[in-house]
Amino acid sequence: MNDIENAVNDTKGPKPATAETLTEVVLPGIVEPEGLEVRAGGAVPAPGPGQVLLRMEATGVSFAEQQMRRGRYYDQPPFPFVPGYDLVGTVAAVGEGVAESVLGIRVAAMVKVGGWSSHLVLDAADTVEVPAGISAAEAETVVVNGITAWQMLHRRAHVRAGQTVLVMGANGGVGTVLAQLAQAAGATVIGTASARHHDALRERGVLPVDYRSDDLAAQVRALAPGGVDAVFDHVGGRGIVDSWRLLARGGTLVSYGTASTRDDQGSKQWPVLKLIARLALWNALPNGRGATFFNIWAGRSFAKDRFRARLRADLTEVFAALGRGEVSAHIAAELPLARAAEALRLAESGTTAGKIVLVP
Ligand SMILES: NC(=O)c1ccc[n+]([C@@H]2O[C@H](COP(=O)([O-])OP(=O)(O)OC[C@H]3O[C@@H](n4cnc5c(N)ncnc54)[C@H](OP(=O)(O)O)[C@@H]3O)[C@@H](O)[C@H]2O)c1
Repeated sequence: MNDIENAVNDTKGPKPATAETLTEVVLPGIVEPEGLEVRAGGAVPAPGPGQVLLRMEATGVSFAEQQMRRGRYYDQPPFPFVPGYDLVGTVAAVGEGVAESVLGIRVAAMVKVGGWSSHLVLDAADTVEVPAGISAAEAETVVVNGITAWQMLHRRAHVRAGQTVLVMGANGGVGTVLAQLAQAAGATVIGTASARHHDALRERGVLPVDYRSDDLAAQVRALAPGGVDAVFDHVGGRGIVDSWRLLARGGTLVSYGTASTRDDQGSKQWPVLKLIARLALWNALPNGRGATFFNIWAGRSFAKDRFRARLRADLTEVFAALGRGEVSAHIAAELPLARAAEALRLAESGTTAGKIVLVP
């Protein structure tokens, strides 16, 4: 148990007031990145029972915001709302039932929306302490990215030393962490990325292949003639068939997104549902391979305690890997929150590697 866990049931906690004001970045509707609105000068919210107020130190840009600004994220809230999938911050105030001892502690949290804000109130039980020696920006690179990568690698594909895995988008936020964690587990990593990122991937020991080329599957087969033990596919669309066919016997396809449909029109749920149905069908076939759809939020509504426990355990593992140097924080760019539009535009440029971090 860490300080935050111990603190939740401590009923002594008073609530220091704050004279600060709130700054939020609002997504008002389907807009270009420049349509994001910075709203400053609002009142900082007070934490309720069991809650903490975080003063944001770092938040970041995820692919989800690229989908949300197009109205294409599976279960985004109605407009307007504050996006921001995760954040790192210090506890600035506590609600009833949370001990004062957590004031000033640096924690990380995954919220799906709301992170692009100078202050945020959330349940203390949804926060995970960041170990000393890890900066806020470093920690930010592995919150949603690290939990996603860890759970797919160790809870779904069960990757072991000596195996070969294919990581799609190995230059992206999740892909960067996933490739490093797979290597730390002793696996050989083949990574897809556009050609401009190949030298950087090679330097990190990843075998690069170009996802924009027509013969992606042939390139992977040349590197792994017997097939790969796991494919991590966030692209979906027609390419998912190749991902399935590239598996060796006993291999696992972990599908976790539909990036290829980001710019499509029509239902935002249908591409995901179609994908899940296809994976379920493949999984049911007696062919010695597995297919699964990973959703980081699975279990949140019906098994909240287990969800929180896993999130805490897995993020703790990722922070430990960061501390040991098995994972390094790849910060693609660091920009102030008020320049979120620029950050989102940059994320969509296809030129970055790692995580774009927003700071106060
Ligand atoms: N299921 C879950 O629980 C879960 C959780 C977290 C994230 N995700 C998914 O994980 C993916 C990565 O998220 P992120 O935040 O790491 O994004 P990111 O940092 O923006 O990285 C996206 C990566 O995908 C590549 N890419 C973009 N469009 C592509 C396409 N049409 N075909 C092939 N590659 C493409 C990009 O390559 P370039 O740089 O060359 O454009 C980049 O490597 C997203 O699809 C996101 O929805 C899912």
